[in-house]
Amino acid sequence: MIPLAVPNLSGNERKYLNNCIDTTFVSSVGEYVTKLEEMSAQLSGAAYGVATSSGTTALDMALIAAGVGRDDLVIIPSYTFIATANAVAHCGAIPWLMDISTDDWCMDIDLLEHELATKTERRRVRSTTEDSEPGGARSTSAEPDALIHIESGRRIAAIMPVYVHGNIPDMHRLKDIARSYDLPLIADAACAIGARLGTEDIGGLADMSAVSFNGNKTVTAGGGGVVISNDKAFIDRIRHLTTTARVWPDYDFDEVGYNYRMTNIQAAVGVAQLERLSDFIRSKQKVRSFYATELSDLRKKGITFFPAKEGCSCWFSGIILPEGTGLEISKKVCAGLKEKDIDSRTFWKPVHLQTPYTEAPRSDMTKSESLWQRIITLPSSTNITDVELDTVAQAVRTVVNELF
Ligand SMILES: Cc1ncc(COP(=O)(O)O)c(C=O)c1O
Repeated sequence: MIPLAVPNLSGNERKYLNNCIDTTFVSSVGEYVTKLEEMSAQLSGAAYGVATSSGTTALDMALIAAGVGRDDLVIIPSYTFIATANAVAHCGAIPWLMDISTDDWCMDIDLLEHELATKTERRRVRSTTEDSEPGGARSTSAEPDALIHIESGRRIAAIMPVYVHGNIPDMHRLKDIARSYDLPLIADAACAIGARLGTEDIGGLADMSAVSFNGNKTVTAGGGGVVISNDKAFIDRIRHLTTTARVWPDYDFDEVGYNYRMTNIQAAVGVAQLERLSDFIRSKQKVRSFYATELSDLRKKGITFFPAKEGCSCWFSGIILPEGTGLEISKKVCAGLKEKDIDSRTFWKPVHLQTPYTEAPRSDMTKSESLWQRIITLPSSTNITDVELDTVAQAVRTVVNELF
């Protein structure tokens, strides 16, 4: 079976893992953790990085550091892996779901602007403080004007675009929008290590960006994540929160913290992988161009290819079946490929269709709904051989010609 994506572990992974065992530094303190943080920041053009136990916990921490709290709304695209929405929910907040642009499968920025302009208002909210006034009366304190989602009455606390497959949306425009509404901008860059916006590194495009080192990512650490930022205050806060908010050297803790640090063992693998980041990105981009070129004859059947703007890191590549194709037919394509020993998958089901989020506020979802059932991811490992790529392309052509 030609797999969908397998880690490419032929660099220094084994050597660095052995070093962890030899030195006994296997837990959350160790040279590889520090190195992974520095390399992740440097390779993304950011000043700082802080490692976490997963991409999801990186998102959790970025949201908390940005001030997202209970009952807030965070704007995210609906077309994403569910972890984006879960991170919002982990903070006690609720996602406000936006449709995507078909150009890059990222949040539709025109739509976002329209939704913000027509569905929000600035309002002074009064919150009850936990402190009691002298004499026992509870006090209420006036907060500055908050941006409120009119229908739900909730405060909007952040915008979190997702870099789908390593395509970067127009982050300069998004930053202008975020600034004009006084909202923090956090990037879910979980699947976008090594991506660029044109020729620009991603490190400075958002206030914080969260990357995943999960096993299926371009760079893996087995599991893990990192938050990168140019703002040291965010990074220091996340480092503190992820280490149980401990105030060293004693067993003092100054708030409710989390045990969300990456281990040195994970980081050892991650560092060895990051050493080869540019090779990995080149391989991923080659896979995407191969499918698009080799299968271009299928365009006459309405088949298209995953979008790849300049700088896209092409996490996964594959085909988009013709408009109107439903999930059943897409699954038949995957079954046909499986019979030919090729692994393939349909992809993310949008968040607004997922059980925990059916009640979440959302925009019109015409584009996500037209797209998601037609996406087929094809084998995209960084070490896939030319022969394997040829085999996949031939099998795709046969299966597609049988079904369309
Ligand atoms: C878009 C997106 N966000 C968040 C995550 C969560 O990352 P992790 O699996 O490391 O928790 C992933 C990957 O799995 C992802 O693809």
